[in-house]
Amino acid sequence: MEIIRIPKVMQETSRKFLREVKTIGFVPTMGALHEGHLSLVRRAKQDNHVAVVSIFVNPIQFGPTEDFERYPRDIEGDIEKLRKEDVDTIFMPDVSSMYPEGFSTYVEVVDISERLCGAFRPGHFKGVTTVVTKLLNIVKPKILYLGQKDYQQSVVIKRLLKDLDMDVDIVVCPTIREKDGLAMSSRNMYLDNEQRNAARIIYRCLIEASEIIKAGIKDGVYIKNIMFKKLKEEPLVSTIDYAGVYDPDTLVEINEIKKEILLAIALRIGNTRLIDNILLEINT
Ligand code: PAF
Repeated sequence: MEIIRIPKVMQETSRKFLREVKTIGFVPTMGALHEGHLSLVRRAKQDNHVAVVSIFVNPIQFGPTEDFERYPRDIEGDIEKLRKEDVDTIFMPDVSSMYPEGFSTYVEVVDISERLCGAFRPGHFKGVTTVVTKLLNIVKPKILYLGQKDYQQSVVIKRLLKDLDMDVDIVVCPTIREKDGLAMSSRNMYLDNEQRNAARIIYRCLIEASEIIKAGIKDGVYIKNIMFKKLKEEPLVSTIDYAGVYDPDTLVEINEIKKEILLAIALRIGNTRLIDNILLEINT
């Protein structure tokens, strides 16, 4: 397994893979890897000749009061996990090589980036789409692998690839959950035991809402109110950014539930912001 820190060297390595007619599967991460990331890595390995994983905590996708400084970092542990998965290349640039002095180009997907998480994290998706554009130009994959837990991120990146005619396919893999349903996330590490127990409310609320919808309730506002009520019953939930029923393509809130819907939640337990979602197919 090769570890590359310099963007130009990664580009050279990818060019070499392409000359050898090898397809590159790419998993971008911010490290602190868990089973969710590893499921993407396994899929990338299965589908391609070569799997490249990036580890880069991207400063420009964090707001000034967000957790960039304390975002969990475990480089040694990550390298070990990726070695066990038999990954070909880890790309691990530092901030100054990704954003050298004078860096002034940003990539922004409007509208869908401003909805859901975007409304509460201004500039976040601009940071994501900028770094993902750079990473794709450096790694040159055939297929990009993302997790459904960050559903809005996957929708925004699909739009980016389409609008800029980027010749990359995207595979969105299912959310990997703990036994009690909590979606795996590097930020779960911030939770103490009590908070960790409280966090189970998120998936429970998504499941409860989906069951009510499956039982025939089609009123999105009613479902949203039920979700808020349920989440507020958990005293350790400090803020609810959003909870409700959304169109899975446009991310706009839905009043009348038909066909496919997205049930999504973002909230804080203490200072830790957690998100989760499920997609639901409705037979009308
Ligand atoms: O999902 C993430 O970990 C990040 O947003 C990504 C895609 C690696 C970009 O920094």
